[in-house]
Amino acid sequence: MAKQNHFSFLTSATLLVIIVCVSETLCRPLEEEHLLKQHEEWMAIHGRVYKDTAERAKRYEIFKENIKRINAFNNGKDVGYKLAVNKFADLTNEEFRASHTGYKRRPTRVLSSGDAKPFKYANFTAIPSTLDWRTKKAVTPVKDQGGCGSCWAFSAVAAMEGITMIKKGKLMSLSVQELVDCDNNDDGCWGGLMDTAFEFIKSNGGLTTEANYPYHADDGTCDTAKTANPVASITGYQDVPANNEKALLQAVANQPVSVAIEGSGFGFQFYSNGVFSGSCGADIDHAVTAIGYGKTSGGTKYWLLKNSWGTGWGESGYMKIQKDVSSKAGLCGLATEASYPTA
Ligand SMILES: *[C@@H]1O[C@H](CO)[C@@H](O)[C@H](O)[C@H]1NC(C)=O
Repeated sequence: MAKQNHFSFLTSATLLVIIVCVSETLCRPLEEEHLLKQHEEWMAIHGRVYKDTAERAKRYEIFKENIKRINAFNNGKDVGYKLAVNKFADLTNEEFRASHTGYKRRPTRVLSSGDAKPFKYANFTAIPSTLDWRTKKAVTPVKDQGGCGSCWAFSAVAAMEGITMIKKGKLMSLSVQELVDCDNNDDGCWGGLMDTAFEFIKSNGGLTTEANYPYHADDGTCDTAKTANPVASITGYQDVPANNEKALLQAVANQPVSVAIEGSGFGFQFYSNGVFSGSCGADIDHAVTAIGYGKTSGGTKYWLLKNSWGTGWGESGYMKIQKDVSSKAGLCGLATEASYPTA
C-alpha cells in the first residue's frame, strides 16, 4: 500500500511537471505576442519610430519591463493611486530622469536682494478648506517640456501666470522659451532654478507671450526682437519658509506657487490618477507648480500640482500628492524649496 502511494505520488508529480511545462510553452509565446502587439499599438498612438530593428528590440525590452511593473503595481494592494502605460513607457527610469526633469539644486538657496524676507503670508489665516486656482482662471493649459530639462522654467512661468491673473485680472500664457534661451542665470535644457528665473524676469522687465516666443524644447539663442516688449512683469519673489507645509498652504492660498520636488521616480514617471503617496526622498530634481489643495471623500489630504509633461500624463497633466505627511520636507521634498513671484 505504502509503495503504491509512493508510486502514485511520483506519477502525480510527473504529471504536474508535464502540465506546467506544457502551459509554460503554450503561454509564454502568447504573452510575448500580446506584449509585442501592445508595443506596436503604443508606438502608433505615440507616433514612435525607431531608427533600426536593434533599437526597436531594445525599446521593446524596456517597454516590457515597465508594463510588467505597472501591471504588478495596479493589480496589487489599492494604495489610492494608479499608474498607467503612458508616453514614457519605452524609457528606463534613468533615461526619463535625465531628459524630463531639470531642477538644479544649489548648495545654498539664492535669495533675492531684500524682498525675500519676511514671508509675507506669515500671518495669513483666511485659508479656504479646499482650493483650485484653475476654477479661478489663474492657470493656463498644461504645457509639455519634452526631452529638455526645463521644468524650472515651466514652474516659474506657471507661478507668474497665476500672480499676473490675480493682480491684473488677465490670464496670459507666457513664454517659457524666453527663459530657456535668454535667462543666463540658468542653463536652459540643462536645468535651472525658479528663484534665479524670477531674478532674471525681474531684471529683464518681464516676459513676452507664449504665442510671440513659442516653446520648442531646445536651447537656442535669445531672440531679442521677440523679447523687446514684455507683456507681464514681476517685482521680485519670495521663498516659502522651508520644511513647513503650513507655510506652503498660506502661500498657495494666495497664489500658485513654484515647488521643487523629487519627481523622477518610477511612480512619477507612470503616475495616472489618485493621490500619490509613493515612497520617495527629498532629493529634489524636478519642478512643478502647486495650484491648490483638497481632500478626498475618504479624508486623504492632497496638494494639486501642475506638471509640464503634457496632458497625457497623470490627471490630464496634473497630480494629486499627499499633503501634511510626517516628514517636515513634505512628500518627495515638496516643502523644501518652494517660492513665488511678487507683482
Ligand atoms: C506677523 O505678525 C507679527 C505679530 O503681530 C508681526 O510682528 C509680523 O511683522 C507679521 N508678519 C508679517 C509678514 O506681516
